[in-house]
Amino acid sequence: MPRLQVTTPAGDSREIEAKTGWSVMENIRDAGFEDLLALCGGCCSCATCHVYVDDEFAGTLPAISAEEDALLDSSEHRRPNSRLSCQIPFSAALDGLAVEIAPED
Ligand code: FES
Repeated sequence: MPRLQVTTPAGDSREIEAKTGWSVMENIRDAGFEDLLALCGGCCSCATCHVYVDDEFAGTLPAISAEEDALLDSSEHRRPNSRLSCQIPFSAALDGLAVEIAPED
């Protein structure tokens, strides 16, 4: 099973086995990371699934939609590698992806 590396805002890091066909957010939430609130359940309307994505995978990810971009702009913690994890479908091509959960706004 492909792997996903997750780091919390406190700096704790853990590798999980990730399900393809689920979003990155669903994989992180299912693994029990309480720092990722994902309040809207993946509807791209809350920005509480904000993560920083390893630059190595930047070209492999789907493009940011206008909706996602606007939500990320509402975060004071936005960085160039910010994404909403509910908008990234996890696939075998993302095996080894490393993400860091952004601090809560
Ligand atoms: S879970 Fe709400 S925007 Fe991703």
